This record gives sequence, C-alpha cells and structure tokens, in this order.
Amino acid sequence: MISNKSCIGIFDSGVGGLTVLKQIKKLLPKEHLIYFADNNNSPYGDKQTCEIEALCLKIANFLAKKNCKLIMIACNTATVASLESIKKTFPEIPVVGVIHSGAITAIASTQNSKIGVIATPLTIAMNGYQKELSQLSKNVTVAQVACKEFCTMIETGWTNNENRFILLEHYISLLPKDIDTLILGCTHYPIILEDIKKYFLGTIIDPAFGSSQEIVKILKEKNLLNPSHENGKIEFFVSGESDIFKTIGEKILNMNIQMVKKIYL
Ligand code: DGL
Repeated sequence: MISNKSCIGIFDSGVGGLTVLKQIKKLLPKEHLIYFADNNNSPYGDKQTCEIEALCLKIANFLAKKNCKLIMIACNTATVASLESIKKTFPEIPVVGVIHSGAITAIASTQNSKIGVIATPLTIAMNGYQKELSQLSKNVTVAQVACKEFCTMIETGWTNNENRFILLEHYISLLPKDIDTLILGCTHYPIILEDIKKYFLGTIIDPAFGSSQEIVKILKEKNLLNPSHENGKIEFFVSGESDIFKTIGEKILNMNIQMVKKIYL
C-alpha cells in the first residue's frame, strides 16, 4: 500500500535525472528517494519510441514494486516516449514528466515569444516541447536543435571530450539569433550549464525546477508528504556501469553516494 512514508521513484537513462533529483531533495528533504539510471541502454535519444517505451514501462514496474508513491520521469526523451503509457499502466500512481513544467516556465519567461529548445534527436523529432508550447500560447515561435552527441559525452565525463566547445558553439549557432529563452530539453544539459552560458546569453530554462514544484503540489494535494522530521534516504540503482555513475553523480549532487546497486530488469 502506498503511504506518505513511501518513496518517490525517479528515473532517467543515466546521470541526467540527478539534476531533477537534486531539486526534489532541496524542496523535499524528508522524502525517501529511489533513483534508477538505465545506463545500460543509454542514450535513449537515438532509439525508437517503442523501444524506449518498453524500457520505461519495465522501470516503472520496478518502481511500482518498490511501492513508490509518485514516479518522476526525469528524462525528456522518456517523457515523450512513455508518459502516457506509464500513466495508463499504473493508474494508482501519480506520474510526472519534465516537459509540461519546462514549457510553462519558458512561456512565463519569454519577452518576445521566441523560444529555443536543445534536446535529444527523439525529443526534437517528436516535437515534445513544440506541441506543449503551442498549446500554452498561440503566438510562440519555437526553434529546435537536436544535440546528438551530448548525452553520451556527459555520461562519459564531459571534460574528457576535447571537441565539446566546438560542438556546443555549432549547435547553439543553429538557433535563430532572436530567441530570448532557451529550454534545456534534456536533463543531462544542466550539468554543462556553465559551458552553455558561454554561447547563449538569454534566459536558460532548466525544467527540473518547475517539475519538482509540481511534485510538491501533487503530494500535498494527495496528503502524501512525508511527515518525518528526519532527512530521507536515497537509494541508487543502475542497469549498467556503476563506478562512473557514482563519480559523476557525486559531483552533480555534491554528496557521497554510499552504494550503487546494479540490477537487471
Ligand atoms: N536525460 C535524457 C533526456 O532528458 C537523455 C536521453 C538520452 O539518454 O539520450 O532526454
């Protein structure tokens, strides 16, 4: 049975979703969190929608078996490919993706209604943000650029890649000069925020902020906030390599990760 003491389940294809976990931990320090990184199947962004959907349903099933009281899809690509089917398959669990909140924040921020999106090839091909943004505002113009290499470059240690600035400059240069707001449409990108800022000077939106606020709202409404006075625990699971995950994860979260468990779903 789900109770207010149950965990929040969070997943991504790798370390990217830790940028969302970090915001959730800030807003809800008393909550127990379970994080699953499907790094054996990373990157998701180059795969077919149905393949990602199948992987995500397995992860959601794992989190449901762990009795999670809410599932946070901390991955834009997985949100595009699987949000609706996870909601349908697990109707008793609230499921939150990152795209809706990211789009709301961007609309609230833009002054000239010209918004850019950088994301994985699948998120761009499926118009994940484009659809959401044009539903929220009739006047908005959206420019999208797929950054094929970034997820893997970040998973393997961004600074190890000598061509990182050339690629960043290239992708940002593909966006029209007049956009005033840029959505980081992949949860891996806030990890390289300082480098992105070197090439884009407008407002940068990290959807993690809005989506963690959405979680607080849902848990409050459902009376599911953990009333404990102690800090919650975080459990980490991976489907692939655990050492690099731990090293990069500790940097992102600025904390020690005691244990990363490897599991096959
Ligand atoms: N963090 C995922 C996202 O937000 C990366 C997807 C991938 O594995 O390509 O889209």
